[in-house]
Amino acid sequence: MTLKEQIEDFFNQDAGSLDRDAALRTFNEFKFFLNQGEIRAADRSTEDGSVDGWSVNSWVKKGILLGFRLGQMHDYSPNAQFRYFDKSTFPLKSLSLEHGVRVVPGGTSVRDGSFVAPNVVIMPPAYINVGAYVDEGTMVDSHALVGSCAQVGKRVHLSAATQVGGVLEPVGAMPVIIEDDVMVGGNCGIYEGAIVKRRAVIGAGVILTGSTPVYDLVKGAIYRRTATRPLVIPEGAVVIQGSRHIDGDFARQHHIAIYTPVIIKYRDEKTDAATALEESLR
Ligand SMILES: CC(C)(COP(=O)(O)OP(=O)(O)OC[C@H]1O[C@@H](n2cnc3c(N)ncnc32)[C@H](O)[C@@H]1OP(=O)(O)O)[C@@H](O)C(=O)NCCC(=O)NCCS
Repeated sequence: MTLKEQIEDFFNQDAGSLDRDAALRTFNEFKFFLNQGEIRAADRSTEDGSVDGWSVNSWVKKGILLGFRLGQMHDYSPNAQFRYFDKSTFPLKSLSLEHGVRVVPGGTSVRDGSFVAPNVVIMPPAYINVGAYVDEGTMVDSHALVGSCAQVGKRVHLSAATQVGGVLEPVGAMPVIIEDDVMVGGNCGIYEGAIVKRRAVIGAGVILTGSTPVYDLVKGAIYRRTATRPLVIPEGAVVIQGSRHIDGDFARQHHIAIYTPVIIKYRDEKTDAATALEESLR
Protein backbone atom coordinates (compact mmCIF):
# COMPACT_ATOMS: atom_id res chain seq x y z
CA MET A 1 0.00 0.00 0.00
CA THR A 2 1.19 3.54 -0.65
CA LEU A 3 1.60 5.92 2.27
CA LYS A 4 -1.60 7.68 1.19
CA GLU A 5 -3.53 4.39 1.22
CA GLN A 6 -2.12 3.44 4.62
CA ILE A 7 -3.12 6.82 6.09
CA GLU A 8 -6.63 6.56 4.67
CA ASP A 9 -6.95 3.00 5.92
CA PHE A 10 -5.96 3.95 9.48
CA PHE A 11 -8.08 7.09 9.34
CA ASN A 12 -11.17 5.03 8.46
CA GLN A 13 -10.61 2.53 11.25
CA ASP A 14 -12.34 2.78 14.58
CA ALA A 15 -9.95 4.44 17.09
CA GLY A 16 -10.58 1.68 19.65
CA SER A 17 -9.68 -1.26 17.44
CA LEU A 18 -6.78 0.15 15.42
CA ASP A 19 -3.23 -1.24 15.73
CA ARG A 20 -1.76 1.81 17.45
CA ASP A 21 1.92 0.90 16.99
CA ALA A 22 1.49 0.27 13.27
CA ALA A 23 -0.56 3.44 12.87
CA LEU A 24 2.10 5.46 14.72
CA ARG A 25 4.83 4.09 12.44
CA THR A 26 2.82 5.16 9.40
CA PHE A 27 2.07 8.55 10.95
CA ASN A 28 5.75 9.16 11.79
CA GLU A 29 6.75 8.33 8.22
CA PHE A 30 4.05 10.72 6.98
CA LYS A 31 5.26 13.48 9.31
CA PHE A 32 8.86 12.96 8.17
CA PHE A 33 7.83 13.83 4.59
CA LEU A 34 5.65 16.75 5.79
CA ASN A 35 8.68 18.13 7.62
CA GLN A 36 10.74 17.88 4.43
CA GLY A 37 8.07 19.64 2.39
CA GLU A 38 7.82 16.54 0.16
CA ILE A 39 4.19 15.94 1.10
CA ARG A 40 1.94 18.99 1.00
CA ALA A 41 -1.69 19.73 1.81
CA ALA A 42 -2.00 21.24 -1.66
CA ASP A 43 0.19 20.86 -4.73
CA ARG A 44 0.55 22.84 -7.91
CA SER A 45 -1.26 20.85 -10.58
CA THR A 46 -3.20 21.24 -13.78
CA GLU A 47 -4.87 17.84 -13.60
CA ASP A 48 -8.63 17.33 -13.63
CA GLY A 49 -10.19 18.52 -10.40
CA SER A 50 -7.51 21.13 -9.76
CA VAL A 51 -8.61 24.67 -8.93
CA ASP A 52 -6.64 27.61 -10.24
CA GLY A 53 -3.51 25.53 -10.65
CA TRP A 54 -3.76 23.87 -7.23
CA SER A 55 -5.03 20.46 -6.18
CA VAL A 56 -5.86 19.63 -2.59
CA ASN A 57 -4.49 16.46 -1.03
CA SER A 58 -7.32 15.80 1.38
CA TRP A 59 -5.56 12.69 2.65
CA VAL A 60 -2.87 14.95 4.17
CA LYS A 61 -5.44 16.53 6.45
CA LYS A 62 -6.61 13.02 7.36
CA GLY A 63 -3.01 12.12 8.23
CA ILE A 64 -2.75 15.13 10.54
CA LEU A 65 -6.07 14.33 12.20
CA LEU A 66 -4.89 10.72 12.62
CA GLY A 67 -1.86 12.12 14.49
CA PHE A 68 -4.13 13.98 16.90
CA ARG A 69 -6.14 10.80 17.45
CA LEU A 70 -3.00 8.72 18.11
CA GLY A 71 -1.25 11.26 20.32
CA GLN A 72 -1.33 11.06 24.09
CA MET A 73 -1.01 14.06 26.37
CA HIS A 74 2.63 14.77 27.04
CA ASP A 75 4.43 17.10 29.45
CA TYR A 76 6.76 19.31 27.37
CA SER A 77 7.74 21.62 30.24
CA PRO A 78 11.41 22.63 30.06
CA ASN A 79 11.29 23.38 33.77
CA ALA A 80 8.83 23.82 36.62
CA GLN A 81 8.08 27.46 35.69
CA PHE A 82 7.24 27.07 32.02
CA ARG A 83 4.55 24.42 31.72
CA TYR A 84 3.47 23.06 28.35
CA PHE A 85 1.19 20.09 27.63
CA ASP A 86 0.27 18.83 24.20
CA LYS A 87 -0.22 15.68 22.15
CA SER A 88 2.87 13.45 22.02
CA THR A 89 2.55 13.31 18.22
CA PHE A 90 2.96 17.08 17.77
CA PRO A 91 6.09 18.36 19.53
CA LEU A 92 7.83 21.45 18.20
CA LYS A 93 9.74 21.12 14.96
CA SER A 94 13.34 20.18 15.59
CA LEU A 95 14.99 23.07 13.74
CA SER A 96 18.78 23.39 13.54
CA LEU A 97 21.21 25.87 11.98
CA GLU A 98 21.37 23.62 8.91
CA HIS A 99 17.74 24.44 8.07
CA GLY A 100 18.84 27.99 7.25
CA VAL A 101 15.75 29.53 8.86
CA ARG A 102 16.10 32.63 11.03
CA VAL A 103 13.90 32.30 14.15
CA VAL A 104 14.35 35.43 16.24
CA PRO A 105 14.04 34.56 19.96
CA GLY A 106 10.84 35.38 21.81
CA GLY A 107 7.60 33.44 21.91
CA THR A 108 7.56 31.87 18.46
CA SER A 109 6.52 28.27 17.83
CA VAL A 110 6.94 26.18 14.72
CA ARG A 111 5.05 22.94 15.06
CA ASP A 112 6.41 19.61 13.93
CA GLY A 113 4.97 18.51 10.59
CA SER A 114 5.30 21.93 9.00
CA PHE A 115 7.80 22.79 6.28
CA VAL A 116 9.82 25.97 6.52
CA ALA A 117 12.28 26.59 3.67
CA PRO A 118 15.75 28.13 4.02
CA ASN A 119 15.91 31.92 4.21
CA VAL A 120 12.52 32.24 5.87
CA VAL A 121 12.54 34.84 8.65
CA ILE A 122 10.15 34.47 11.58
CA MET A 123 9.76 37.44 13.92
CA PRO A 124 8.42 36.79 17.41
CA PRO A 125 5.79 35.99 18.40
CA ALA A 126 4.57 33.97 15.44
CA TYR A 127 3.01 30.55 15.09
CA ILE A 128 3.38 28.08 12.24
CA ASN A 129 1.01 25.15 12.56
CA VAL A 130 1.17 21.54 11.38
CA GLY A 131 0.88 20.96 7.64
CA ALA A 132 1.83 24.55 6.81
CA TYR A 133 4.30 25.06 3.97
CA VAL A 134 6.33 28.27 3.97
CA ASP A 135 8.61 28.72 0.98
CA GLU A 136 11.97 30.43 0.53
CA GLY A 137 12.63 34.03 1.43
CA THR A 138 9.26 34.59 3.09
CA MET A 139 8.93 36.89 6.09
CA VAL A 140 6.51 35.88 8.86
CA ASP A 141 6.29 39.01 10.96
CA SER A 142 5.32 39.44 14.62
CA HIS A 143 1.92 38.14 15.77
CA ALA A 144 1.36 36.40 12.45
CA LEU A 145 -0.30 32.99 12.26
CA VAL A 146 0.28 30.51 9.47
CA GLY A 147 -2.62 28.14 10.08
CA SER A 148 -2.65 24.38 9.62
CA CYS A 149 -2.00 23.28 6.02
CA ALA A 150 -1.74 26.88 4.72
CA GLN A 151 0.56 27.07 1.69
CA VAL A 152 2.70 30.20 1.47
CA GLY A 153 4.92 30.83 -1.55
CA LYS A 154 8.35 32.37 -2.09
CA ARG A 155 9.26 35.94 -1.03
CA VAL A 156 5.86 36.50 0.53
CA HIS A 157 5.58 39.16 3.23
CA LEU A 158 3.09 38.28 5.97
CA SER A 159 3.02 41.55 7.87
CA ALA A 160 2.53 41.99 11.58
CA ALA A 161 -0.64 40.42 13.04
CA THR A 162 -1.73 38.80 9.78
CA GLN A 163 -3.78 35.69 10.35
CA VAL A 164 -3.75 32.97 7.73
CA GLY A 165 -6.46 30.49 8.60
CA GLY A 166 -6.06 26.73 8.81
CA VAL A 167 -8.18 23.89 7.54
CA LEU A 168 -8.38 21.68 10.60
CA GLU A 169 -10.73 23.81 12.64
CA PRO A 170 -13.25 24.92 11.66
CA VAL A 171 -13.30 22.12 9.16
CA GLY A 172 -12.39 23.38 5.71
CA ALA A 173 -11.43 21.42 2.63
CA MET A 174 -9.13 23.80 0.81
CA PRO A 175 -6.18 25.31 2.64
CA VAL A 176 -5.43 28.98 2.20
CA ILE A 177 -2.91 29.40 -0.61
CA ILE A 178 -0.74 32.48 -0.96
CA GLU A 179 1.40 32.37 -4.06
CA ASP A 180 4.87 33.78 -4.71
CA ASP A 181 5.71 37.47 -4.21
CA VAL A 182 2.42 38.34 -2.49
CA MET A 183 2.45 41.16 0.05
CA VAL A 184 -0.08 40.81 2.87
CA GLY A 185 -0.35 44.01 4.91
CA GLY A 186 -0.65 44.31 8.65
CA ASN A 187 -3.73 42.99 10.47
CA CYS A 188 -5.12 41.04 7.53
CA GLY A 189 -7.15 37.84 7.86
CA ILE A 190 -7.19 35.30 5.06
CA TYR A 191 -9.45 32.39 5.78
CA GLU A 192 -11.46 29.50 4.39
CA GLY A 193 -9.34 28.37 1.49
CA ALA A 194 -8.95 31.66 -0.34
CA ILE A 195 -6.29 31.62 -3.06
CA VAL A 196 -4.19 34.74 -3.47
CA LYS A 197 -2.44 34.62 -6.83
CA ARG A 198 1.12 35.76 -7.56
CA ARG A 199 2.21 39.34 -6.83
CA ALA A 200 -1.15 40.36 -5.39
CA VAL A 201 -1.11 42.97 -2.63
CA ILE A 202 -3.55 42.65 0.25
CA GLY A 203 -3.76 46.08 1.87
CA ALA A 204 -3.60 46.48 5.61
CA GLY A 205 -6.67 45.28 7.48
CA VAL A 206 -8.36 43.37 4.65
CA ILE A 207 -10.33 40.30 5.72
CA LEU A 208 -11.09 37.59 3.17
CA THR A 209 -13.36 34.66 4.02
CA GLY A 210 -15.18 32.15 1.86
CA SER A 211 -18.27 34.36 2.07
CA THR A 212 -16.62 37.67 1.23
CA PRO A 213 -17.34 38.99 -2.28
CA VAL A 214 -14.50 41.05 -3.70
CA TYR A 215 -15.36 43.91 -6.07
CA ASP A 216 -12.87 44.49 -8.86
CA LEU A 217 -13.20 48.21 -9.68
CA VAL A 218 -10.72 47.90 -12.54
CA LYS A 219 -12.36 45.05 -14.44
CA GLY A 220 -15.91 45.59 -13.24
CA ALA A 221 -16.18 42.07 -11.85
CA ILE A 222 -17.22 40.48 -8.58
CA TYR A 223 -15.23 37.52 -7.31
CA ARG A 224 -16.77 35.10 -4.86
CA ARG A 225 -16.56 31.46 -3.83
CA THR A 226 -18.65 29.04 -5.89
CA ALA A 227 -19.54 25.40 -5.29
CA THR A 228 -16.39 24.33 -7.13
CA ARG A 229 -13.98 27.22 -6.71
CA PRO A 230 -12.78 29.08 -3.63
CA LEU A 231 -12.43 32.84 -3.53
CA VAL A 232 -9.52 33.68 -5.85
CA ILE A 233 -7.72 37.02 -5.81
CA PRO A 234 -6.25 37.59 -9.28
CA GLU A 235 -2.55 37.97 -10.00
CA GLY A 236 -1.21 41.42 -9.21
CA ALA A 237 -4.50 42.72 -7.76
CA VAL A 238 -4.23 45.42 -5.10
CA VAL A 239 -7.03 44.79 -2.57
CA ILE A 240 -7.98 47.38 0.02
CA GLN A 241 -10.80 47.79 2.51
CA GLY A 242 -14.03 49.28 1.21
CA SER A 243 -17.69 49.41 2.08
CA ARG A 244 -20.95 49.08 0.18
CA HIS A 245 -24.49 50.15 0.88
CA ILE A 246 -27.07 47.56 1.71
CA ASP A 247 -30.43 47.36 -0.03
CA GLY A 248 -33.74 47.45 1.79
CA ASP A 249 -35.78 50.21 3.41
CA PHE A 250 -34.47 49.63 6.90
CA ALA A 251 -30.82 49.59 5.77
CA ARG A 252 -31.34 52.74 3.67
CA GLN A 253 -33.14 54.48 6.50
CA HIS A 254 -30.18 53.83 8.80
CA HIS A 255 -27.48 54.36 6.14
CA ILE A 256 -26.05 50.90 6.71
CA ALA A 257 -23.00 49.95 4.74
CA ILE A 258 -20.99 46.78 5.20
CA TYR A 259 -17.32 46.06 4.89
CA THR A 260 -16.19 44.79 1.52
CA PRO A 261 -12.74 44.37 0.04
CA VAL A 262 -12.23 46.09 -3.31
CA ILE A 263 -9.57 45.76 -5.99
CA ILE A 264 -8.62 49.39 -6.40
CA LYS A 265 -5.93 48.80 -9.03
CA TYR A 266 -3.45 46.28 -10.34
CA ARG A 267 0.11 46.39 -9.16
CA ASP A 268 2.22 49.15 -10.71
CA GLU A 269 5.58 50.78 -9.97
CA LYS A 270 4.08 52.79 -7.13
CA THR A 271 2.80 49.62 -5.48
CA ASP A 272 6.18 47.96 -5.99
CA ALA A 273 7.83 50.89 -4.22
CA ALA A 274 5.27 50.78 -1.38
CA THR A 275 5.79 47.07 -0.83
CA ALA A 276 9.47 46.62 -1.63
CA LEU A 277 11.21 44.21 0.68
CA GLU A 278 14.32 45.33 2.41
CA GLU A 279 17.01 42.85 1.35
CA SER A 280 19.35 43.65 4.19
CA LEU A 281 16.76 42.52 6.75
CA ARG A 282 16.87 39.00 5.29
C1 LIG B 1 -2.19 48.64 -0.72
C2 LIG B 1 -1.00 49.55 -0.40
C3 LIG B 1 0.29 48.77 -0.57
C4 LIG B 1 -1.03 50.78 -1.32
O1 LIG B 1 -0.69 50.42 -2.65
P1 LIG B 1 -0.39 51.58 -3.75
O2 LIG B 1 -0.24 50.89 -5.06
O3 LIG B 1 0.72 52.44 -3.25
O4 LIG B 1 -1.77 52.37 -3.72
P2 LIG B 1 -2.07 53.88 -4.22
O5 LIG B 1 -1.46 54.84 -3.27
O6 LIG B 1 -1.73 54.01 -5.67
O7 LIG B 1 -3.62 53.90 -3.98
C5 LIG B 1 -4.64 53.78 -4.97
C6 LIG B 1 -5.91 54.40 -4.38
O8 LIG B 1 -6.37 53.59 -3.27
C7 LIG B 1 -6.35 54.35 -2.04
N1 LIG B 1 -5.76 53.46 -1.03
C8 LIG B 1 -4.59 52.83 -1.11
N2 LIG B 1 -4.42 52.04 -0.04
C9 LIG B 1 -5.50 52.21 0.73
C10 LIG B 1 -5.91 51.64 1.97
N3 LIG B 1 -5.14 50.73 2.61
N4 LIG B 1 -7.10 52.01 2.47
C11 LIG B 1 -7.89 52.88 1.83
N5 LIG B 1 -7.55 53.46 0.65
C12 LIG B 1 -6.36 53.12 0.11
C13 LIG B 1 -5.47 55.54 -2.33
O9 LIG B 1 -5.84 56.66 -1.58
C14 LIG B 1 -5.68 55.78 -3.80
O10 LIG B 1 -6.90 56.45 -4.01
P3 LIG B 1 -6.87 57.93 -4.68
O11 LIG B 1 -6.24 57.72 -6.02
O12 LIG B 1 -8.32 58.30 -4.73
O13 LIG B 1 -6.06 58.74 -3.76
C15 LIG B 1 -1.11 50.10 1.05
O14 LIG B 1 -2.36 50.77 1.25
C16 LIG B 1 -1.02 49.05 2.13
O15 LIG B 1 -1.98 48.52 2.63
N6 LIG B 1 0.25 48.72 2.52
C17 LIG B 1 0.51 47.73 3.52
C18 LIG B 1 1.12 48.42 4.74
C19 LIG B 1 1.46 47.41 5.78
O16 LIG B 1 0.59 46.73 6.29
N7 LIG B 1 2.74 47.27 6.11
C20 LIG B 1 3.13 46.24 7.01
C21 LIG B 1 4.24 46.67 7.90
S1 LIG B 1 4.50 45.37 9.12
